[in-house]
Amino acid sequence: MRVSTGPLTSHEIVYDIASVTAHHDHPDIPFSIRKNFLAAFDNPPPGTLIERYLGYLDDEPVGYLELGFPQLDNLDNVGIDLMVRPDRRRHGVGRALMELAVERAGAHHRTHLMGETVDRHPDGAAFAEAVGAKVGLTDLRSRLDVTALDEKRLAELRAEAEKHAEGYTLRRWTGVPPDELIDDVAYLEGRLNADAPIGDLALEPEKVDADRLRQDHRAREARGRRSYQTGALMNGRVVAWTWLVAEVDQPVHAWQSTTIVDPEHRGHRLGLLVKLENLAHIRAEKPALEAIDTFNAAANTYMLKVNRAMGFRAADVWTGWQKDL
Ligand SMILES: CC(C)(COP(=O)(O)OP(=O)(O)OC[C@H]1O[C@@H](n2cnc3c(N)ncnc32)[C@H](O)[C@@H]1OP(=O)(O)O)[C@@H](O)C(=O)NCCC(=O)NCCS
Repeated sequence: MRVSTGPLTSHEIVYDIASVTAHHDHPDIPFSIRKNFLAAFDNPPPGTLIERYLGYLDDEPVGYLELGFPQLDNLDNVGIDLMVRPDRRRHGVGRALMELAVERAGAHHRTHLMGETVDRHPDGAAFAEAVGAKVGLTDLRSRLDVTALDEKRLAELRAEAEKHAEGYTLRRWTGVPPDELIDDVAYLEGRLNADAPIGDLALEPEKVDADRLRQDHRAREARGRRSYQTGALMNGRVVAWTWLVAEVDQPVHAWQSTTIVDPEHRGHRLGLLVKLENLAHIRAEKPALEAIDTFNAAANTYMLKVNRAMGFRAADVWTGWQKDL
């Protein structure tokens, strides 16, 4: 069989390759709705240049490569999303796309290629090792079963957290943070790579400001998603913040994204408090919600403890890989 690569010719084919790959590799995570997936091509996150390629077996497109070149920070890095249809693996398409990724990284003067694999199937990790990548970070995906919450326990946790958080007030919003809060939220979001464990990955803190955050939320909304956020405020400033994100037309599933507490305000159970409030927030707005998934570095014991207390349980392990040129 003849292996080749080429530029992207059809967005629909990417949806087919990506959805069949996702169903094979992590079947319990609902895959994006087609129109939202396709909207991503015209509404990328700000600050990243994206290149897309297809991999062919004879003349059939069976593999997809997406390269993300950060433009505002992390200028030595390139993010790789590489996949081959499960029924067309082990014919060299993955390797051919990886060679193209290395070539394109060189053309953009990037030295660190980063990608992720799920450990539930051996293909991703075996491939990453075969192409010379090294393990950078081990992540756990945990799931909260929203249909089986222990309400009594959640109420106890809330009461306990409030005792430690005197003087802080909670505020909820969706989408772009209100004008008077957006600078604080941008500051917290920008701290993430500095504060959360990143293992051996060569990640730098992102340069996030109000404008980038606004564009990011608008692009996300254009991709059919809504974010549900809660902040803890002291003297009118957001000092702890968390957000969940879900597809608007997809009632049962959401992702827990960043939770971060300003270092000066740690030790007041604010991480737990904003998460509990935000869970109530999304349940009020998405009453059919059944599951929330989240990723945490396996080394992030504080966040894992908070999540476990709320009822999150480990679902699978993901590995962040880095190949240095
Ligand atoms: C990883 C992936 C892209 C590989 O695609 P592929 O077309 O099967 O890759 P190749 O055929 O070029 O394999 C290259 C080498 O990887 C290794 N490899 C790949 N899968 C393997 C497996 N299941 N067991 C052992 N070795 C494996 C082998 O060394 C292989 O070379 P060989 O076939 O000559 O022995 C594909 O399995 C996939 O889409 N997985 C899910 C998504 C993912 O994890 N992507 C990678 C991170 S971004």
